[in-house]
Amino acid sequence: MSVPLEIVILAAGQGKRMYSDMPKVLHSLAGKPLLAHVLDTARALKPAAIHVVYGHGGEQLRAAFPHAEIKWAHQAEQKGTGHAVAQAMPKVADQATVLVLYGDVPLIRPQTLRELLSAAGNGLALLTAELADPAGYGRILRDSDGQVTRIVESKDASAAEAKVREVNTGFLAAPAGKLRKWLAGLRNHNAQGEYYLTDIISMAVSEKVAIATRAPRDISEILGVNSKQELAQVERLHQKQQAEKLMQQGVTLRDPARLDVRGELTCGRDVVIDVNVIFEGKVSLGDRVQVGPNNVLRDCSVGNDTIIHPNCVIEDSTIGSECRIGPFTRLRPGVQIADKVHLGNFVEVKKSQVGTGSKINHLSYVGDTTVGKNVNIGAGTIVCNYDGANKHPTVIGDNAFIGSNTALVAPVTVGAGATIGAGSVITKDAPAGELTFSRAPQVTKPGWKRPVKKKS
Ligand code: UD1
Ligand code: CA
Repeated sequence: MSVPLEIVILAAGQGKRMYSDMPKVLHSLAGKPLLAHVLDTARALKPAAIHVVYGHGGEQLRAAFPHAEIKWAHQAEQKGTGHAVAQAMPKVADQATVLVLYGDVPLIRPQTLRELLSAAGNGLALLTAELADPAGYGRILRDSDGQVTRIVESKDASAAEAKVREVNTGFLAAPAGKLRKWLAGLRNHNAQGEYYLTDIISMAVSEKVAIATRAPRDISEILGVNSKQELAQVERLHQKQQAEKLMQQGVTLRDPARLDVRGELTCGRDVVIDVNVIFEGKVSLGDRVQVGPNNVLRDCSVGNDTIIHPNCVIEDSTIGSECRIGPFTRLRPGVQIADKVHLGNFVEVKKSQVGTGSKINHLSYVGDTTVGKNVNIGAGTIVCNYDGANKHPTVIGDNAFIGSNTALVAPVTVGAGATIGAGSVITKDAPAGELTFSRAPQVTKPGWKRPVKKKS
C-alpha cells in the first residue's frame, strides 16, 4: 500500500508589506487568489488531505474558498513556521507523508513536487536552490561528504555560514509520525524567538533519517510574494510562461509581453492574437481565429475563421464561425451568435440570439431578442426591452430588414421578410413580408422664412 500524502499549506502570514486590509494569499495572480494557485497545484498531487494554516483575516480567507475541501487550522499567533505546521498536525495521520507548501509561493510546479516526494521516500526531502544572492534565506549546511547537517536561518548565520549560496526554499516533505515528534521538540532560542520548522533537520540527522535534496527546474517556482512589487513580478513571470505555452502550441502572439490570460485559454490552429488582449475565465478560440488589439474576452467561445476587430468587450457569449465582430462591439452575458454574422462599432448585444448571416453593423442596442437568419439591422436601431420595471422579449424573423434609427418597443415581433421603415417606433407586431413604418409625414412649407435678429 502506498503512503498517503497530506499537504500542509502555510498561509498565516499577515503580509504587512502588502499594505492591504486583505490577507496576503487572497491577492490576485492571473485573476485568482495566490492561495487558489497553490491549492490547484496541491490537488494535482491527489493528496488524501489538504490543510491550510491560516491566521490573519481568517474569516475572509475561509469565505473565499467555501466549496474547497480544506482542513483549516488556525494559528492565532505567528510563532514561526514550525509552530505553524504543528497547528495542522492534530488532523494528520501518523502514516502519512507531509508536504509543506507556502500560500504565498504560487508558481511551484506539480512535477517539481512529485520529484521532491519521490526523493523523500520514507525520509525527509528539501527543495533547495543555489542563489547568486542568498540574503534573507535559510542556508543549507552540509558536511564534508555533502550530507545535509542542518539549516541555519539568515539572522542566525555566522559570517562563514552566510556565504553559503544553497538556500532552503521552504518546500519540504517528511514522514508525519516523526515530524509530529520533532515539532514537539522545537525551541525558540534563536534570533527571532520563533519555532523554526528548519530546526527539524538537525533532529532528523541525529536520528539518522535520510535527507534528500532536489532543485526546482526554474527559479520562478520558489519566488514568494511579500509586496506589490513581488506580486507584479510573479504575475509577469506567470504570464510569460502562459504565452510561451501558447506559442509552443502554434499560436501567433504579436507580442508575448502584451498578453494576459487570467483563466484558461484554448486555441485551435493558426490563431493570431494581437497586442493588449485580456482573456478571463474560460475562453476557447477555434482554428484561424484572429483577435485584434485591445480586446477583453471573458468566458466565451469563438468559432473557426472569426475575426475579432480591435476594442471589443465580450462576456459569457458564444460566437460562431466566419463572423466579423467589432471594432468596439460589446457582447454582454447570454449572447449566442451564429455563423457569418457581422457586428460592428458601438453595437451592444445582451441575452440574445443572432441567426446566421445577420448584420448589426452600427450603433445599436439589441437585448432579450431573437434575431433570425440574414436579418439586417440598420444603424441606430434600439430594442426597448425594458419598461422601467420588467424586461420583455423581441423576435425578428428571418430576412427582415430594420431601417435605421428604429425603436422596437418590446414585447414585439417583426415577421420574416418584413421591412421596417427608417425612424419608426414599432409598438405592435409587424407582419411578415410587408413594409411597416411609423413616421410623421414629411412637410414642406413653401416660402417659409427663418426669423432674423431684431435691430435694436
Ligand atoms: C522561511 C524559512 C527559510 C527559507 C524561507 C524561504 C523557516 C524558519 N525559515 O523563512 O529557511 O529560506 O522561508 O522563503 O522556516 N508562516 C506562518 N506562520 C508563522 C510563520 C510563517 O503561516 O508563524 C508562513 C508565512 O505566511 C509564509 C511562510 O510561512 O507563507 C514562510 O514564512 P516567512 O516568515 O516568510 O519565513 P522566512 O523567515 O522567510
Ligand atoms: Ca519569506
